[in-house]
Amino acid sequence: MTFITFEGIEGSGKTTQIKLLMAWLQTRTERALLTREPGGTAIGEQVRAILLNPDNTEMTPEAEILLFSAARAQIVREVIRPRLEEGWIVICDRFADSTLAYQGYGHGLPLDDLLQITEFATGGLWPDLTIYLDLDVETGLRRKAATPEEWNRMEAQAIDFHKRVRAGYLALAKQNPDRWLVIDADQPVEAIQAQIRARVEGLLG
Ligand code: TYD
Repeated sequence: MTFITFEGIEGSGKTTQIKLLMAWLQTRTERALLTREPGGTAIGEQVRAILLNPDNTEMTPEAEILLFSAARAQIVREVIRPRLEEGWIVICDRFADSTLAYQGYGHGLPLDDLLQITEFATGGLWPDLTIYLDLDVETGLRRKAATPEEWNRMEAQAIDFHKRVRAGYLALAKQNPDRWLVIDADQPVEAIQAQIRARVEGLLG
C-alpha cells in the first residue's frame, strides 16, 4: 500500500505528469488508482463545485478550509483508505499539503488550527511520498492563462497570494525532506517524468 500525492501551484504541470505516471504504473500493476482533491467522490465533487464557483466571492477562508476538509474526510474514508488496505497504489492530485500551503501560508490562517482540522479530516493519514512540482508564479500563471476556460476562483487570487503559497510549499518540503520530492518544473516534460518514475520505482521496490 502506497499513497502518493502531487502538489504544485497553478500551471506547474501536475496534471500532465500525473497522467504519464499513471500510464506507466498501469503497465506494472492493475491496482493503481488516481483521484483528486477537492472531489473524487460524489459528495466531494459537489463540495468542489461550491469551492471553485467564481460567484462565491463572499466565502471566508474559515468556511473554505472546512469545505476542503469535508471533501477530504469523505474521500479518505470512501476511497483512499479502503484501497490502501487492499494493497493498491493511490495517487492523489492534491491533498492535505494544499490546505497548509493555500489556506495556511496563502491566506494566513494559523497552521496549528489547520493541522488539527486536517488530522481530524484525514484520521491521521499522510502520504508516503509527496511530489512537488516547483515553478515560479509568473511562469505558472502565464501557462494557465493560455487556457482561460480553466481560470477559476482560486486562480483569480492576487499574484502575491500565489507567491506565499509557493514559499509555503518549499517550507513544508524543507520540514519533511524524507516525504517530499521537490522537482524543478521548468524542465522538459520527459525530464520531469523521469525523475518522478525513478523515485516511485524506488518506493515500490
Ligand atoms: P483545480 O482546478 O483542481 O486546480 P489544479 O489543477 O491546480 O489542481 O483547483 C483546485 C484549487 O483549490 C487550486 O487552486 C488549489 C485549491 N486548494 C486549496 O486552496 N486548498 C486545498 O486544500 C485544496 C485541496 C485545493
